[in-house]
Amino acid sequence: ITEFCLTGTLAIAVFTAALGSLQYGYSLGVINAPQKVIEKHYGHSLGVWSERTTVLSENSTEDEELPEAGQHPAVVMYWSLSVAIFSIGGMLSSFLVGFVGDLKGRVKGMLMINFLAVVAGLLMGLCKMWKPHIMVISGRAVMGFYCGLTSGLVPMYIGEIAPKAYRGALGTLHQLAIVTGILISQVIGLDFILGNDGMWPLLLGLSGAPAVLQTILLPLCPESPRYLYIVLGKEQEARNSLYRLRGPYDATADVEEMRREKEEADKEARISILSLIRSSVYRQQLIVALMMHFSQQFSGINAIFYYSTSIFARAGVGQPVYATIGMGAINTVFTMVSNDYSWMSYVSMSAIFLFVSFFEIGPGPIPWFIVAELFSQGPRPAAIALAGCCNWTSNFIIGMTFPYIQGLLDVYVFILFAGLLLCFTVFTYLRVPETKGKTFEEIAAVFQKGKKKLAEAPKDHAELEQLKTSTDA
Ligand code: GLC
Repeated sequence: ITEFCLTGTLAIAVFTAALGSLQYGYSLGVINAPQKVIEKHYGHSLGVWSERTTVLSENSTEDEELPEAGQHPAVVMYWSLSVAIFSIGGMLSSFLVGFVGDLKGRVKGMLMINFLAVVAGLLMGLCKMWKPHIMVISGRAVMGFYCGLTSGLVPMYIGEIAPKAYRGALGTLHQLAIVTGILISQVIGLDFILGNDGMWPLLLGLSGAPAVLQTILLPLCPESPRYLYIVLGKEQEARNSLYRLRGPYDATADVEEMRREKEEADKEARISILSLIRSSVYRQQLIVALMMHFSQQFSGINAIFYYSTSIFARAGVGQPVYATIGMGAINTVFTMVSNDYSWMSYVSMSAIFLFVSFFEIGPGPIPWFIVAELFSQGPRPAAIALAGCCNWTSNFIIGMTFPYIQGLLDVYVFILFAGLLLCFTVFTYLRVPETKGKTFEEIAAVFQKGKKKLAEAPKDHAELEQLKTSTDA
C-alpha cells in the first residue's frame, strides 16, 4: 500500500496543535468588544473615574456631554499598551521558534510553552485582585510571547506530519482555528455574555483555556518524523511515528526522501537566522516567504479586525458590533462613499464580507504553511522564525499606524491597501511557485533551477562568481 487514508492519530495531532492557533485568534480578537468596560475599570484603579461619573453616565441621555474614562490620557496610554504589547511579545518570541522546536522536538516544545499561556490567563483572569491595568498588560505581554511561538510551531509541526497530498488542506486548519478563535472571542465578548463589568476578567482569562486542553492531548501526539530522523538521526523512531500517523503503509518513499534531506542537512552547519539572511542559496525562497507574510498583513486585514466597529459605525451600520461579529469584521473601498445613503451601509457590509472571504481563501492561510513547504529541514526553523517575526512586526505597524493613516487619507484609506494588494498579486503570480503535491525536495529544486539557468548563461558568469563568494563568506 503506497497511499493511506487520514488516520485518527493524524486527526488528533492536527486538532491538538491547532488549539494553539485557536488561542492565538482568541487573544487577537478578545480586546475589541469590551474596550469601554475595561477602560472604565482602568479609570477606577487609576483614580480618574469616580462613582459619581459612573452614576451620571448610567443615567445620561445620548446628547449629554459626559467624561469618558477612555478619554483620559492615562487611560488611553494604558489601554493602547494593553493592545499593543501583545504584538511586541510576539515579535520577540517569534525569533525563538526554531530554538524551541529543535530543543526537545515540536510536541514537547508546544507542551513546554503552554505554561506561559496558563500564567497569562491567570494574570488577566485574576486582575481585579491587584492593579487591573498592570495585571492585564503583563498578561497580554506573556500571551503575546506565547502566541509568537505557537504561530510558528503549529504550522511547522502540521507541515511536517502532513502527508504530501493533504499538506495544503491540513495547513489551512491553522488559519481556520485562528478565525474560529477570533469569532468565539467576539461572540462571548458581547455585553450580555462576558463583556460586562463583572465578567470581563474571565473573558480575558479564558484565553488560557485551550492551553489546558492542549496539554492533556499533546502526549497522544506523535513527534514529527522529520525531526526524529533529520535532526536526531533516529530512523526507527521516525518510522514508528510515520506508522502511527499514517497507518500500515509502505514508508520507503517517505524515509528515502527524509534520508536525502538529512544528507543535505548534514553537509552544512546548522542554519541560524543570521546565516539564512546572509546565504544566497536560500535567497529566493526567503524573499518569497517574507513577501507572503508582508502581503498578508499589508492587505489591511487587521485594520479591519481591530477597528471594524468604528469603521462600520462610520458607514452607517445601525448595530456595528453585530456587523463586526458577522464575519469577524472590516471595511473596504466602499467606506469612502458611505454615510449619506442608508443602502450604502449594506454595500459597505457586503464589500467587507467579500474582502474577508477572499482573504481567507488566499492570503490568510497560505503564508502560514507555505514557509514550511519552501524550505528543507536545515533552514526550515530559521525561515519560520524570520517569517513569523516579519508577520508580527507588520501586524504591530498596521495596528499602531492605522488610525493615523486613516486620519490622513480619510475615506480613501482602503485605496492604499488595494494598491498594495495589486503589487502583491503581481509578485505572487510571477514569483511564487506551485507547491501542491510536490515533495520538499522538488520544491527546493524549482528555486535551484532558476540558479542553474543563471549558471548556464555565460553573460551572468561574473554574477554567479559573486554569488558563490558571498555564500562561502
Ligand atoms: C491571519 C493573520 C492575522 C489575522 C487573521 C485574520 O491569521 O496572520 O493577523 O488577524 O489572519 O483572519
